[in-house]
Amino acid sequence: MTKSEMDHVVVFNIAEIEKAIAAGQYEEINGVKVLDGRKEAKSLFTRYIPIANNPHGCNMAPDKKHLCIAGKLSPTVTVLDVTKFDALFYDDAEPRSAVVAEPELGLGPLHTAFDGRGNAYTSLFLDSQVVKWNIDEAIRAYAGEKINPIKDKLDVQYQPGHLKTVMGETLDASNDWLVCLCKFSKDRFLNVGPLKPENDQLIDISGDKMVLVHDGPNFAEPHDAIAVAPSILPNIRSVWDRNDPLWAETRKQAEADGVNIDEWADAVIRDGNKVRVYMTSVAPSFSHESFTVKEGDEVTVIVTNLDEIDDLTHGFTMGNHGVAMEIGPQQTSSVTFVAANPGVYWYYCQWFCHALHMEMRGRMFVEPKDA
Ligand code: CUA
Repeated sequence: MTKSEMDHVVVFNIAEIEKAIAAGQYEEINGVKVLDGRKEAKSLFTRYIPIANNPHGCNMAPDKKHLCIAGKLSPTVTVLDVTKFDALFYDDAEPRSAVVAEPELGLGPLHTAFDGRGNAYTSLFLDSQVVKWNIDEAIRAYAGEKINPIKDKLDVQYQPGHLKTVMGETLDASNDWLVCLCKFSKDRFLNVGPLKPENDQLIDISGDKMVLVHDGPNFAEPHDAIAVAPSILPNIRSVWDRNDPLWAETRKQAEADGVNIDEWADAVIRDGNKVRVYMTSVAPSFSHESFTVKEGDEVTVIVTNLDEIDDLTHGFTMGNHGVAMEIGPQQTSSVTFVAANPGVYWYYCQWFCHALHMEMRGRMFVEPKDA
């Protein structure tokens, strides 16, 4: 924290730690296997690299080589070359020999993000800026070359902490967008209560200069985020897959009831005081215009939306029963409720689906228990 002149980055040698655990060289404390990795122990488990007082973020570049330690109280980011770590453990190299750059960037560096072109983007908490700098040029400057690694500075609104590029913590860091999470941005959006909205900012990093393109309110103290390319999200669909395991249980029950939920279904199955109502929805109608149950029955309505059109979602609302569910295209949804007092209850689609959406409805007749 703040008591020492210097702080340290601690490097853990996981291979040596695993070896020592396997060899039984640990002390067991409350059931946990503990090794002594303290600085004074001078073990092969850790190395302590001295670094400017009170460092903060520890971010690995997508080049698998450069680890950036944000200085926080120091205006610098310290770049460690992780390929030099072995020498610290096995050749007794001086710990600072792993430091290959230490650019001075501005006040309050907290975190660093990366693009796929060797550039780094560091948040400056006190300067309320994002600074873009080049890692290779910072290394050359540290080696004595007269070169300024800083490429650009952008004012943000304000006091940023975490910041993220798309896929920035993988080998596929991309060159298009940076999201900056502003920790104390109190005055960017309407005050809607005692807790004021903070601010996330979207920055275009595709060119030489960073360009701010969007501000968005966020919950208090937005803390870290991951930005991913949509291509790595295989589950984004425009309609549901009928084989989705989500409704395996429903399918099993339907098979036992002799109902095929992949096709037009309008069965009503009674099972003691349990009633299963199988329904199909195709805009703008349900397969049942009405169905009949008894007061106190436990009713499960299972609706399959057979529409295959992107975003053609239906709803199923049962009046006076606290029921309103969504059924996406090709989805099966179900809801269970207890049939109330004898009478007629309208059910209807509450999701705008068709010019005749308002006509997409039916009636549940509830008979007296002893009828
Ligand atoms: Cu179906 Cu509205």
